[in-house]
Amino acid sequence: MEMELANHRPFEVVRQLAECNAVVVFSISGCCMCTVVKRLLFGLGVGPTVVELDHLSHPSADDIQAVLHHLLPHQPHPIPAVFVGGKFLGGLETLMSSHINGSLVPLLKQAGALWL
Ligand SMILES: *[C@@H]1O[C@H](CO)[C@@H](O)[C@H](O)[C@H]1NC(C)=O
Repeated sequence: MEMELANHRPFEVVRQLAECNAVVVFSISGCCMCTVVKRLLFGLGVGPTVVELDHLSHPSADDIQAVLHHLLPHQPHPIPAVFVGGKFLGGLETLMSSHINGSLVPLLKQAGALWL
């Protein structure tokens, strides 16, 4: 029982972060793709909640990465991971292509991350 709770804790942390914030970026400081993702969002006027995994002590970066890997089995790199409105949007590539095809801004507005 205790083992099971311990196993679920990082998952709960990821879920709560994603559900309680309009936009969440799971990042590692010094990762270029993470910087690009953050710049794009800030450039659009979104103030995302940024979780720098390497600054966490508990749950650890490895714990969170394991959860992201589990949620995103088809992504070779789980970081950066962007959640909008509690749902996983994608990494850099999806963010860029959604921006280019015009679907990103409406999604951000719908999530309450952008007002104008
Ligand atoms: C825009 O791109 C995203 C990410 O590739 C995709 O999920 C979405 O369906 C596309 N939307 C349109 C309207 O093409």
